[in-house]
Amino acid sequence: MISVSQKSQDVVGRSSLAARQRIPYGSAATLGLGVLPTTKDQRQTATVLKFLFTQPMPAAILDGSKIAAEIRGEVAAEVKAMSAAGMRPGLAVVLVGHDPASEVYVRGKVKSSEEVGIYSEKHTPSESVTTEELLDLIADLNRRDEIDGILVQLPLPKQVDSKKVLLAVDPAKDVDGFHPMNVGFLSTQRPGLVPCTPAGIMEMMQRSKIKIAGQEAVVVGRSDIVGKPMAMLLLNANATVTVCHSKTRDLPGICRRADILVAAIGRAGMVTKEFVRPGTTVIDVGMNRVTDPKEFARVFAGNAKRDETFRSKGSVLVGDVHPEVAEVAGAITPVPGGVGPLTIAMLMANTVKAAKMRRGSRVAELSRV
Ligand code: GUN
Repeated sequence: MISVSQKSQDVVGRSSLAARQRIPYGSAATLGLGVLPTTKDQRQTATVLKFLFTQPMPAAILDGSKIAAEIRGEVAAEVKAMSAAGMRPGLAVVLVGHDPASEVYVRGKVKSSEEVGIYSEKHTPSESVTTEELLDLIADLNRRDEIDGILVQLPLPKQVDSKKVLLAVDPAKDVDGFHPMNVGFLSTQRPGLVPCTPAGIMEMMQRSKIKIAGQEAVVVGRSDIVGKPMAMLLLNANATVTVCHSKTRDLPGICRRADILVAAIGRAGMVTKEFVRPGTTVIDVGMNRVTDPKEFARVFAGNAKRDETFRSKGSVLVGDVHPEVAEVAGAITPVPGGVGPLTIAMLMANTVKAAKMRRGSRVAELSRV
């Protein structure tokens, strides 16, 4: 299933996504002839094709909202069958305190659970909760058979030992894929639960038919939630992977090597055209809320639509990738509407996966009926 917009179909009938990803502008190969043109007709075709291929084309948009809806549809069908057999998957979300961004994320997770038919419950300990109190809550959720997935929304308050809390989650119910056991399963290519954002990015690239094996992938950012698992998933899919971070020398130069560039740095519009080779697939994980007019102008100068949003709301959501990158990239994820919706869709998929793995033989019986 290709989610690239129809506009990206090129004159030779391939999606320009595939054409752009593999073939440099204006090379002999772009003429699609395999040999040098000799006859008059071939020369004319070559001239027309070369003209078309050397024009700057905006990147194909990887529509995360559309792919997320597909995934949710698939998950809903599985949940329906499991529920009919008395095994409705259940998700418990733990939200500590009142961090506004976390509240928005958790609201989205609970709403999505309801939509796909997953049972969900929200636990909201106060900002002053202790590590021990959270450990008691986790132990209770671990014990309950109707709970298949446990998600502790991060960040946790300073007084809480986050690592200890995440370690206490039963790895079989760890739908975030943060438990060291699941991290180990991923790095040794064993079945397990994989962090939702990088899992969603892989799903998006696979469903959009983006080639991964043998490609140069550069991941900017080395967080436990995105950068590290993303690198491992790309490596497991046979990409050649480079992980960059704040101490990396010549970041633009290394990023320019990429066929697939994943930006997960958390800095608005940091990845500019200078970082991107024409034709690269650019995945923007950033979700930065910009309120400073100067910062807004740096990223969105001359963009009337965003300007209107900024004036009316006083802020805009900006990715890590500068909008000018769309002029050179082969394919790009928008912000919003790219990676964000996939994270929640994969949480739903992980909850069903956890239910199936944990309830094992009972689900196997269900698929035989
Ligand atoms: N905070 C930001 N992203 C995430 C996520 O993917 N999972 C959890 N639990 N917390 C987060």
